[in-house]
Order: sequence, then C-alpha cells, then structure tokens
Amino acid sequence: MEKENKKCDCEKDSFLEKLFQEYLPEKDNLIQMLNEIQEHYGYVPMHVQKELSEFLNIPMAEIYGVVTFYSRFSLEPQGKYKISVCLGTACFVKGSQKIMDRLTDRLKIEPGQTTKDGLFTIEQTRCVGACGLAPVFTVNGEVYGRATVQKLDEVLDELIKTESK
Ligand code: FES
Repeated sequence: MEKENKKCDCEKDSFLEKLFQEYLPEKDNLIQMLNEIQEHYGYVPMHVQKELSEFLNIPMAEIYGVVTFYSRFSLEPQGKYKISVCLGTACFVKGSQKIMDRLTDRLKIEPGQTTKDGLFTIEQTRCVGACGLAPVFTVNGEVYGRATVQKLDEVLDELIKTESK
C-alpha cells in the first residue's frame, strides 16, 4: 500500500492562479473559495491559507478560524477512504466503540489521523441520522448499518485488496 495520493506542486500553482482569476478579492468569497480549495487539494494547506489571506486581505488567523470551525474543511490531507464510526448514543450502546477499537488497531492510527500511504482516514462522528441501523460506520459517506467487527474487517479487507491490485 505505497500508492501516492498527492498532487504535484505545479498543479497546485496553476489551480491557485486560476482561482484568483475567477474570484474578486472580496471577503464574501472566502467560504466559496475555501470550498474549491478543499475540493481540489482534499484539505486546506497552510501555504494556500497564506496566499488566500494576501489575496482577500484577511488576517491568517481569521481564515484559520473559519477552516477549523466548519467540519467540511480539513487542515490535514485526507485519505482516499474516510472511515467514520458513529459514537452517538444509539450506536455507542450497541457497541460501536468495539468497531472503532478494531479500526484503530488495524490501521495503527487514531481518529483524526490518516495512514502514511494516504489511503485511510479515521473519524469519529456523533449520530449520522441512521440510529435505527445502529451501530453504524460509513466509508466515504456510504452507510454500513448493524455493523459488527467482522463486517468492518470484510470491508477493510476488500478495500485493501482493491488498492493492492
Ligand atoms: S447515534 Fe449513530 S446514527 Fe444515530
């Protein structure tokens, strides 16, 4: 699992150049520009926050505040597969912590971290609105209900197999 999940710097530069041509340097454009940046890079890199700060004439601290406030923005590169385990009440009482423990054990990372090969990010969530299916985990938003450690193992094995082809 040594595949690279990053884009080259030249691509980043041309992306930013284009972005700064598309938008007027107005504060109101901040969220929309951050959305595009998140989508392109998979996170909001520090050097991009700095360039955005200069372009929009907004202090870095303010941009950082927005990025950390909204959960859709991330400061770290995200894995190709974002696996979220719901630790909301309904899922927790049905044993979702065991699923989380298994996940951190297998991937050797903690919630909020990404594996070195860039494939997996683990997240913990609070209620994804599927309590009737508790316990629940999701992979890139796809819900796996009435989950078990065995089901998690199957899904992980399948993803690892796909990526090693
Ligand atoms: S508590 Fe897990 S989906 Fe609601």
